[in-house]
Amino acid sequence: MSKMRLAIVGAGPAGIYAADLMLKAERDFEVEIDLFEQLPAPYGLVRYGVSPDHPRIKGIITALREVLDSGAIRYFGNVRYGQDITLADLKRHYHAVIFATGAIRDVSLNIPGIDAEGSYGAADFVSWFDGHPDVPRTWPLEAREVGVIGNGNVALDISRMLIKHADDLLPTEIPDNVYAGLKQNPIEELHLFGRRGPKYVKFTPLELRELGEVRDVDMVVDERDFDRDDAYADETLAKNKQVVVMTRIMDKWRAEQQQREAGEVEPSSRRLHLHFWSKPVEVVVEDGRVAGLKIERTAPDGQGGVVDTGEFEIVPMQSLYRAVGYYGSPLDEIPFDDAKGVIPNAQGRVRDLEGEQIPGVYATGWIKRGPVGLIGHTKSDAMETLECLLEDRASWWQPEAPEAGAIPELLHAREVPYTTIEGWHRLDEHELGLGEQAGRTRIKVVSREEMTRVSRGE
Ligand SMILES: Cc1cc2nc3c(=O)[nH]c(=O)nc-3n(C[C@H](O)[C@H](O)[C@H](O)COP(=O)(O)OP(=O)(O)OC[C@H]3O[C@@H](n4cnc5c(N)ncnc54)[C@H](O)[C@@H]3O)c2cc1C
Ligand SMILES: NC(=O)c1ccc[n+]([C@@H]2O[C@H](COP(=O)([O-])OP(=O)(O)OC[C@H]3O[C@@H](n4cnc5c(N)ncnc54)[C@H](OP(=O)(O)O)[C@@H]3O)[C@@H](O)[C@H]2O)c1
Repeated sequence: MSKMRLAIVGAGPAGIYAADLMLKAERDFEVEIDLFEQLPAPYGLVRYGVSPDHPRIKGIITALREVLDSGAIRYFGNVRYGQDITLADLKRHYHAVIFATGAIRDVSLNIPGIDAEGSYGAADFVSWFDGHPDVPRTWPLEAREVGVIGNGNVALDISRMLIKHADDLLPTEIPDNVYAGLKQNPIEELHLFGRRGPKYVKFTPLELRELGEVRDVDMVVDERDFDRDDAYADETLAKNKQVVVMTRIMDKWRAEQQQREAGEVEPSSRRLHLHFWSKPVEVVVEDGRVAGLKIERTAPDGQGGVVDTGEFEIVPMQSLYRAVGYYGSPLDEIPFDDAKGVIPNAQGRVRDLEGEQIPGVYATGWIKRGPVGLIGHTKSDAMETLECLLEDRASWWQPEAPEAGAIPELLHAREVPYTTIEGWHRLDEHELGLGEQAGRTRIKVVSREEMTRVSRGE
C-alpha cells in the first residue's frame, strides 16, 4: 500500500488535530484525509461552545484554520455520519476512520420536578447563545430570579451570559437574535449552587475572577459556607495553587460584601449569589412551572466528599439551569457506553461491548474520553489515538473503491448539499462582512439553510 485513505468524522478540535498529526507523522506512505462534519461550519465547540465573550479562546480557530487550509485535507461540511454517509461507505472508500464527534447534550439530573417548564440544560442554552443552527432561535428569558446548578466552568459561562447586560456583549460575535433575547432579560438575582465547598470547585481561577468583574453585578457569598470545619480541604486542597488563588478571589468578595453591608459602596442592580454545600434535591413546581429549588445542606465527609445534614432550604426562582456535565451521542453501527456517554475504547482503539477491538475504527476527543478537559487536551488525545492507528496498519480495512473522486460522486448521487473548505471561507467572509456593516467584528449566521446557501455560493 503506497497511499492510505483516512476518514475523520467531526471537525471539532479533536478531529482537526488528529488530521494535522497524521499529516506530520513519520510514515513510509502517502496519506489522503477526508474530514466529514455535520455542520456547514467547522470547529465544533470552539465555535458552538466557547462563550462569545472569550475572543482570545475563540482565537484558537486561527490555528485550526491553518490546518484546514494546508491543502492536504478535504473538508465535507453538512454531511452527517449515520444519515448521509454510513460505516459501509467508509469501509468501501477508506482504510480506517477516526470518530471525533464530541458531545453536545446535557447529562440528566435525576431530581423530582427537573422536567418542569422553566428548567433547562446548560448545553441547550449554550447552543442558543452561540448560534447553533439546530436549536430554536428564541430562548425564554423571563425570570427575575434564576438558579444554576454546578460548580464547573460551564456553570460559570452560562451564569455570566445570564447576568451580563446585553449591551456589554455587543462587541462579541453574538447573533442578532441572541442580542435581542438577552436585551429583554429581566434577571436581578442569580443563584449558583455547588454540592461541595468553595475549595472543591471545578472552576478555573481566570474564569472565576472574570465573574466578579462583570459590570453592575454584586457577588453575594454566604459566610456560613466558609465556616465548615474541613480538615481534608485545609490539609490537601489548600496546597493546590489554583485553590489558593480562588480562595483569595472569594475572600475579596467577602470583604466587598461587608463594605456593602456597612453602606460604604453603592449596590449594583444585579446580584450573583454563591451557595456552597448545597445539594439539589427537588425542583419546587407550581402550576407546572419552576418556582424554586429545594436544597439539602451538606457537610464535608473528611475524604473530599460530602454527607447530608438533614437541613433543607428552598430558594425561590422562576427558572433553573443544570450545568452538571455534557454527554455524547451514540453513532450508527458503533458501540456506545451509555453510562459514560462515550464510544468504548482503549487508547482510542474502539472496542465492542465484549471488549474486542474493532479493526479500522478509532475515536478521539470528548467522544473517546468523556466531556472533560480543555481544547489543548484534545491534541494529546489525538496523538495517543494516532499512535495506535499507525501501529495497527496490518488490520486496516482494504477499501474496494479508494479513488478520491468516489466521495463527491456518492454525495452528489445522494443529493447531499455538502460544503467545502472554500465554501467555509465564503461563509466566514460573509459573517465578517455582516459584522463590519454593524460596526462589530462578526455576526454569526444561524440558519443552516442560509449557511449552506452562502457556503455553496447559491
Ligand atoms: C460550553 C463550553 C465552553 C467551553 N469553553 C472552553 C474554553 O473556554 N477553553 C477551552 O480550552 N475549552 C473549552 N471547552 C472545552 C472544549 O470545547 C472541548 O475540550 C473540545 O471542544 C472537545 O473537542 P472535540 O473535538 O472532542 O468535540 P467537539 O468540539 O464537540 O467537536 C465535535 C464535532 O463533531 C461533529 N459531529 C458530531 N456528530 C457528528 C456526525 N454524526 N457526523 C458528522 N459530524 C458530527 C460536531 O458537529 C462537532 O463539530 C468548553 C466546552 C463547553 C461545553
Ligand atoms: N473557560 C473554560 O476554560 C471552559 C469553559 C467551559 C468548559 N470548560 C471545560 O469543559 C469541561 C466540562 O465542563 P463542565 O462544567 O460541564 O463539567 P465539570 O467541570 O465536570 O463540572 C461539573 C459540575 O457539576 C457538578 N455536578 C455533577 N453532578 C451533580 C449533581 N448530581 N448534583 C449537583 N452537582 C453536580 C459537579 O460537582 P462535583 O465536583 O461535586 O462532582 C461539578 O461542579 C471541563 O473540563 C471544563 O473545564 C472550560
